[in-house]
This record gives sequence, C-alpha cells and structure tokens, in this order.
Amino acid sequence: MSNAIKLPMEKGFGKTDRIDKWWSQPFWMGFGLTLALVYTALRVVVWDGDIQYEDHRVTSPIFSPDVIHIFDLDTPKWMNSALLILWIPFGFRGTCYYMRRVYHRVFFQNPTACVVAKPEINYRIGYKGETGLFVLNNLHRYMLYLAIIILSMKVYDVYHTMWFHGDDGTESFGISVGTLVLATESILLFMYVASCHAFRHLFGGGMNQWRNGISGVVGRLYIKISDLNVDHAFWFWTSLVMVFLGDLFVWAVAEGMISDWRWIIT
Ligand code: FES
Repeated sequence: MSNAIKLPMEKGFGKTDRIDKWWSQPFWMGFGLTLALVYTALRVVVWDGDIQYEDHRVTSPIFSPDVIHIFDLDTPKWMNSALLILWIPFGFRGTCYYMRRVYHRVFFQNPTACVVAKPEINYRIGYKGETGLFVLNNLHRYMLYLAIIILSMKVYDVYHTMWFHGDDGTESFGISVGTLVLATESILLFMYVASCHAFRHLFGGGMNQWRNGISGVVGRLYIKISDLNVDHAFWFWTSLVMVFLGDLFVWAVAEGMISDWRWIIT
C-alpha cells in the first residue's frame, strides 16, 4: 500500500506548510529581471546618446560589439548597434536552461515554488515542456554558437581599450579602468558560456563513449566543464549585473561625470 502524500498539502495560491521565506528569492529574481528589461529598453531606445568614449576606445557592454562602427554600416539615424545585436544575448539567455526555471517560477507561477500551491489555473494547464512557442527553446545550442562569436568580439573590445590615441596622432599602449571593467564583463560572460549545459556538447557531449586517445582527453574535458556547470546560476546573475554596471560606468565617463584613470605602459 502506498504512503505517498500529494504535495503541497495546503490548497490555494501561495499556501504552503513551509516556514522559510520561500518567496524572497523569486521576488528578487523577478525584480532584477524586470529592472534589467526596463533599463535596457530605455537605454537602447531613449538614452542611446553616450554609448562610448574616446572615439570608440571603450564601448558600453549593452552596445558591444558596436557592429555599426566596426563594419561602418550605413544605417538610419535612429538605429544603434544594440538594436541589431541584442537578439543574440536575449535569445541565448531567454532559452537558457536555468532561465527557463526562473521564468516558469517567477513570471508564470508554474510551479510557484517547491511545496507551495500554485494558481488554480496552472493545475489545469500543467507543464507541456518544449511545445507551442516554447519549442524555440530547442534553439539554445545554436544561440550558444552565436554567443561564442559575440564573446570573441567582446574580448577584442577589451584589447581595443588598451590602445590610446593622442591628439597629435601618437599611439600608446596601457590599461585604464575602462579596460578592467570590460575585461571583468568578458570574464564573467566567458564563465556563463563555459558553464552552459549545451557547451558540453562541444566537448564530448555528442560522443557515445570516451576511451583512449583524443576521445579520452575530450571525456576528461567534459567532466571538467561539467564542474563549471554547477555554478551556472551564479555566472548567469553576475555576468548580467556586470553588463549594467559596465554600461553605467561608460555612460558616466562619456558624460564627463567621472574619469577613466589610465596606466600607460609604452
Ligand atoms: Fe544557461 Fe546554456 S544553459 S546558457
């Protein structure tokens, strides 16, 4: 005879036997994601004037890679690089396995939390996985490939910040705070990409077995990369926050509110 108990035992949206602050984490996640969306929309559409300084030596992470400047594209005045490229980071993060967990819990309340009753309607809807519009989540692996290209261009952006051009045409090499800001953003983004569930597909995830030789090396790499995956949520949030901190820094320097301190090496 089964002793199974159907959880949650309490009925009614938000009802639970839990005594911890189970709502705290989803609340702050929802707050953070909403803030990020609103800030990005305003920055890209309304406050898109100061996206770089010193003739594109340092560019805001939201507008980087600045493809309009890099490829000298002929675009309408209202267009900016973020409008052209943001679909890639949005698509990558939006189809992320961790992000799916977040938006299902925070925005859809399906489920609300472990052992917490969800809205009545969601018991009827149930969970249908990657069907309907959510079939697009299956594009995640392809979004990963595009995200790797974006990451490579951001690494180049960091290198680009290390070349200073004087008014007299001289060129010098060094590091500025802007370099450190963009480097931090790139490192966090690298960790987010490297800890992606789909990233492992590139390192042995598609093989049936790992033996000796190359496949054995690839198998060991797979295990190492899987270790990074444990902290994927941490890299998700830190890399996201750094995009906005980086943008605020670039905006403040471009507006003349703060200086970009530098150390010239040669
Ligand atoms: Fe989160 Fe791939 S699973 S980025």
